[in-house]
Amino acid sequence: MLAKVSADGGDKQRARTIDTPALSECDYRTFCDYLERLCGIVLGSNKQYLLTNRLLPLLDEYSLRSFSELIALIVSGKKTSLATRVVDAMTTNETSWFRDQFPFKLLKHHILPGMLEAGRRRVSIWSAACSSGQEPYSISMAIAEFLDTHPQCFLNPKIVSTDISTTVLNQARKGIYDDAAIARGLDARQSKRFFTAGQNGFQVIPEIKTRIAFQLLDLQQDYSVLGKQDVIFCRNVLIYFSSQLRNNIIERMIANMNPKGYLFLGASESLGGFVRYFETVRGHGGMVYQLK
Ligand SMILES: C[S@@+](CC[C@H](N)C(=O)[O-])C[C@H]1O[C@@H](n2cnc3c(N)ncnc32)[C@H](O)[C@@H]1O
Repeated sequence: MLAKVSADGGDKQRARTIDTPALSECDYRTFCDYLERLCGIVLGSNKQYLLTNRLLPLLDEYSLRSFSELIALIVSGKKTSLATRVVDAMTTNETSWFRDQFPFKLLKHHILPGMLEAGRRRVSIWSAACSSGQEPYSISMAIAEFLDTHPQCFLNPKIVSTDISTTVLNQARKGIYDDAAIARGLDARQSKRFFTAGQNGFQVIPEIKTRIAFQLLDLQQDYSVLGKQDVIFCRNVLIYFSSQLRNNIIERMIANMNPKGYLFLGASESLGGFVRYFETVRGHGGMVYQLK
């Protein structure tokens, strides 16, 4: 049976109207359960359009005629490469430079000066779902701007940047962006200072890149290996998970923070019951949670 599926312009796979095989309720549920086990993402009901739009290219690629066949193949685990492709297809990687502005201002004008005043010489920051790199590079740029007025005050600031999607992580590692990406959130002074123009696009300069280590990491898995962090950016990713997984991640992040460490969440995310472990620091149009 064929059904018309119209991908909306913002969706990442297809922006045209196409004939595509229908998806049964049973296959949808089977896939949702699989996806939640695979990467924690909860699709909820009525997201069939999202699944069909995003998995359609895999149908073509594996020469399959129905979603039923594709989902059976995915769930069987027989094609190991498919799991990576499913993660890439089903994650939402929307991001931009200095997204929301205030986290980077709080970092530059409150957190870093506070650490310096407390006699700290080392800084460890974790961008926990870094997508194509704009978040960790913005963190590194905010550090560079702070160091302009406080040269050499920190020994080797480190930013570890993780994501579950290999495709966005590879883009982040490259640090090369096209005009459209550059236009989202950087002012002229920042694009001039922090990038060099090349044939393939705009390349982040080494000074900004060297502070960052990129690593594939599923937030469902153990991340104590990353070491204790002073600041964690965990923004716009918890919204995709169940409340149980969100709580589990926050609990383990707390265990992975240095005393008085800071945690940034996305605008529509909250700490739930864990708020009691934190003080709220407000400023620059937003807020950050600081461990008590
Ligand atoms: C909307 S982006 C947020 C990017 C950035 N933090 C920001 O706020 O601009 C969400 C990212 O979370 C990643 N993600 C989804 N599930 C994940 C998981 N289980 N572990 C790690 N990263 C995950 C996705 O691959 C995606 O790049």
